[in-house]
Amino acid sequence: MERLKQFIEKEGKVLNEEVLKVDTFLNHGIHPQLMKEIGIEFAHRFEKDGITKILTLESSGIAPALMTSLSLDCELVFARKRKSITMTDNLFTSSVHSFTKKETSDISVSKSLIHKDDHILIIDDFLANGQAALGLIDLVNQSRASIAGFGIVIEKSFQPGRHLLEEKGFKIESLARISRLSNGQVSFIDPIKQS
Ligand code: G4P
Repeated sequence: MERLKQFIEKEGKVLNEEVLKVDTFLNHGIHPQLMKEIGIEFAHRFEKDGITKILTLESSGIAPALMTSLSLDCELVFARKRKSITMTDNLFTSSVHSFTKKETSDISVSKSLIHKDDHILIIDDFLANGQAALGLIDLVNQSRASIAGFGIVIEKSFQPGRHLLEEKGFKIESLARISRLSNGQVSFIDPIKQS
């Protein structure tokens, strides 16, 4: 997605060879017009997949997931990292280990919000090591709903997340695929060469 690539090139900061900071439009500040276009793009890529619900993980997945749910006219649920005081029981829960943050956290979603007849699109801001994705898959599997695929805003293709999901046979649509972060520069996978 050309416009997203322009935002990454103009506003992204390469912190090191593994981490890209995009705090001005995705992870802290949110650019509403870009999010709207991201939602339209994901909706276009999944419009024929019979999506009934979008699942994401708080917090940075919520903005792109919300705009996609508006475009697809379907429901949206976000998994929580910390249980709210109103989430007292009846939860699907999974454990997510972050290699980046070197910590493990529980994620959960109310059993009343995902049903076995749902066909779910999982949206997230970053795909890195794929651990958040695995946790979300676990939550959906517990509900016995089905997964239509993954919509990822920024994929770091040099990390193992995509391979992990491909091995499981999932459809993955990433709007920007980064092949390398080095010397302050972001390199993208050429969309013509990518499989
Ligand atoms: P994984 O889920 O793919 O295994 O990724 P990992 O453990 O490496 O990442 C944990 C958190 O760090 C996630 O956010 C993920 O989106 C974010 N992250 C991973 N790589 C990058 C990167 O290069 N740049 C930025 N900006 N973020 C990255 P989170 O903890 O869920 O945060 P948030 O959703 O509350 O913002």
